[in-house]
Amino acid sequence: MLNPNLLPIFTCTYTLPLGNYLNQRRIMERKEFLKKSLAVCGLSLIPAGIIESCSKQSYGGPTNVNFTVDLSNSANAALAVAGGSLLTNGVIIIHTGGTVYHAFSATCTHAGCTVGYSRGSIICPCHGGTFNPTTGAVTGGPPPSGLTSYAVSQSGSVLTIKS
Ligand code: FES
Repeated sequence: MLNPNLLPIFTCTYTLPLGNYLNQRRIMERKEFLKKSLAVCGLSLIPAGIIESCSKQSYGGPTNVNFTVDLSNSANAALAVAGGSLLTNGVIIIHTGGTVYHAFSATCTHAGCTVGYSRGSIICPCHGGTFNPTTGAVTGGPPPSGLTSYAVSQSGSVLTIKS
């Protein structure tokens, strides 16, 4: 039979280890919580510019451009008439009139969509950005900068487009 006077001692002996275990566990949980919180806080202390520079992309268009377009080829017939345009090699070539041609990167500087030419303007279908068809400068919408332009020279029926 258990002595009732010893019961408090017996109870303490067996509840203390359990209490210690629970306390230890709570301390460990707090430590884990603090570790994870510090990790998250540490990330938030990284300068915003670094994170931003990682997420920003460059939409400058093709580099080292050097190709020819034969105007006598039926595949390039769109350039035969003034107001026509052709998209090739990541470049949009625009025939603005006479023997005047302009070439720009076809990649919109805002978010990289492919631009088109319509009614005297270079237009981006994604967010409505517009560009000047003779300079490539931004004329409207969100693009942060103009389109990269390329030199166009003509020899007979052949256009050469170069960076
Ligand atoms: S991607 Fe061209 S306006 Fe946004």
